Amino acid sequence: MKLTMQTASAEYDIILERGCINRISSFINLNRKVFILTDDNIPDRWVDTVQAQCPNSTVYRVASGEESKSMQTYEKVLTACLEFHMSRKDLLIALGGGVIGDLAGFVAASYMRGIDFMSIPTTTLSQIDSSIGGKTAINLGKVKNIVGAFYHPKLVLIDFDTLSTLPERQKINGLAEAIKAGLIRNPALFELFEREDYEDHLEEIIYQSLCMKRDVVQQDEKESNLRKLLNFGHTIGHGIEAYYNLEKYLHGECVAMGMFYFITSKELKQRLKKICTRMGLPITDDYDIQKVYEITTMDKKAADGIVSTVWVDEPGKAYIKDLPQTELLTLLKQGPF
Ligand SMILES: NC(=O)c1ccc[n+]([C@@H]2O[C@H](COP(=O)([O-])OP(=O)(O)OC[C@H]3O[C@@H](n4cnc5c(N)ncnc54)[C@H](O)[C@@H]3O)[C@@H](O)[C@H]2O)c1
Repeated sequence: MKLTMQTASAEYDIILERGCINRISSFINLNRKVFILTDDNIPDRWVDTVQAQCPNSTVYRVASGEESKSMQTYEKVLTACLEFHMSRKDLLIALGGGVIGDLAGFVAASYMRGIDFMSIPTTTLSQIDSSIGGKTAINLGKVKNIVGAFYHPKLVLIDFDTLSTLPERQKINGLAEAIKAGLIRNPALFELFEREDYEDHLEEIIYQSLCMKRDVVQQDEKESNLRKLLNFGHTIGHGIEAYYNLEKYLHGECVAMGMFYFITSKELKQRLKKICTRMGLPITDDYDIQKVYEITTMDKKAADGIVSTVWVDEPGKAYIKDLPQTELLTLLKQGPF
């Protein structure tokens, strides 16, 4: 399967195919310096498969996890690019999950004012969501994704085979973004989660989620309006993620918890609760509401005391509503259900 992303600033293919990482050169020129950015948890078999196809390459591994989306790691990667004598014509490959994709994208956007990069996402989260759309970023302290750029890859290769080594918790974590995709724009996708075992439909789930995101990004690349819908579950979700120091919960797990606050129908909350419980996604915890509120409003989405929030009335019916930030506290006090 192939999707093409076409925005005002970029056009690139998204290839979805088992085994596609074995033939990268049939999609992009590898006869140049190739800097492969990955993390220390990505199995050697995927790294070796990629490197074996790049005659003039280097592999740079950062520590796995959110801490690598930091200024310090960003600087180290830039320094390594410089030491490898990367020029404007060379290629950066992001091989890993959303952390690697976000970091590599920002390095590519800023090194020499922009070099080519391609993404090989290896988690469900990155295959479903983060590898497309052009958002690249690192964190500043506890504040997520506050430093970054819109910068698209030249190519995205989604090889479902790479998911075979992904731990189960990580696999389920990413599926929260697919449930989100279903809730905001694709009722059939949401219903698939209710009806079926996700394991039997993983490729379809990834494809449908990407189609949804591709369509939204094509209409509103820079998030002036429609694209804000993709933030469903993220406003309070980011607050919860930061409250636990980005340690206790994974990103998708926090999005799952964050969605409940912005669903207006009790019945739909119950349906979502059932899906999350069956899949092993968390639905709430005993976080300190005041602290989550403070972190959430420090986030970039709270401008001038107004927070842009995304609400869902029923699957496929999502809308954006600007709220005075104090109303977030009321929502948090009311609780998720
Ligand atoms: N740019 C965007 O549009 C966007 C959208 C959503 C999320 N994000 C970001 O994505 C990040 C989360 O991404 P993630 O959930 O992929 O986490 P991650 O990148 O930390 O990967 C999760 C873990 O899985 C390991 N791993 C990855 N692929 C593997 C494989 N195939 N086999 C074995 N282990 C593997 C990694 O080493 C890591 O330990 C967050 O920083 C979030 O902010 C970005």
